[in-house]
Amino acid sequence: MITGKYPGLRLRRSRKNDWSRRLIEENNLSPSDFILPIFLIDGKNKKQPIKSMPGVYRYTLDKLSGLVDKAIKNQLPMVALFPYTEKRKKNNLGTEALNEDNLVCKAIQLIKKKYKNQIGIMTDVALDPYTSHGHDGLLKSGYVLNDETVSILINQSLLQAQMGCDVLAPSDMMDGRIGEIRKTLDKNGYKMTQILSYAVKYASSFYGPFRDAVGSKGLLKGDKKNYQMDFKNSDEALREVALDIKEGADMVMVKPGLPYLDIIMLIKDNFKIPVMAYQVSGEYSLLANAVEKGLVDNNVIIESLIGFKRAGANAIVSYYADRLDKILK
Ligand code: PBG
Repeated sequence: MITGKYPGLRLRRSRKNDWSRRLIEENNLSPSDFILPIFLIDGKNKKQPIKSMPGVYRYTLDKLSGLVDKAIKNQLPMVALFPYTEKRKKNNLGTEALNEDNLVCKAIQLIKKKYKNQIGIMTDVALDPYTSHGHDGLLKSGYVLNDETVSILINQSLLQAQMGCDVLAPSDMMDGRIGEIRKTLDKNGYKMTQILSYAVKYASSFYGPFRDAVGSKGLLKGDKKNYQMDFKNSDEALREVALDIKEGADMVMVKPGLPYLDIIMLIKDNFKIPVMAYQVSGEYSLLANAVEKGLVDNNVIIESLIGFKRAGANAIVSYYADRLDKILK
């Protein structure tokens, strides 16, 4: 593979000038590589800062158009919607997930009505924004029940599809849910609704600020280790992906992002399927706070994002996606 030898060969020759470095660059970022997560809150005319995530806000529905306008103008292919759910709307079973007037349902309808297919809408399928215990499914004696949870997720998925969601993203890590959701969608006339499976989601402390953003922080009882993956494993990631592809996933997600670039690469090498990376809230917070404090300069942002592309990701969910005009130039 490696040919030539020093001093005839000098790799620094092509690194000497900027034009030459640009000429041989192997990876790059464009707006099409990004999915913008949007946090929603009840109320009117609010843009509420999230303390742990400098530069990221929760928005009321009347502010949504402004955001989506900008996303379309910047040629982002998709937004991902996440609701901040008020405590009084949470319960043991997470029933708010099935309320057709919930924040996510309203937001999907709003965007679809105004923008049709100018931009994709992706929504999370999981119960954690809605349960009083903060888990992604039904809880019994400290254990998250699988099949019982799946039977609710099917309905949550169908509801979101009916509202007009383009890409359902189950992030719950229950076994068998992709197949069940696909079956339900097809049976009800939603054959073209896509499924982006969070096939490889690790039980991670990097989700901390997100739980703050969606209001499930102090609520979470225990951890999510009996359903999310152990970060010591990678063979298991391939098994998760293989199953989800068989069950009908159109794309898969690896999450968190930066500590799991090896997983992205493994999946690409083994399956040739679209792979999305999620630069999660904790990764964002580490970068954003360090840049804000002047510990590192803001090139760390693009450096971390290019890492995903180098590893083989097709697109990146990033909280920086609303500021690409500044970051990419
Ligand atoms: C919940 C969900 C989580 C994230 C996206 N969907 C958190 C969790 O599993 O606890 C995390 C995203 C982030 O940290 O940015 N189903």
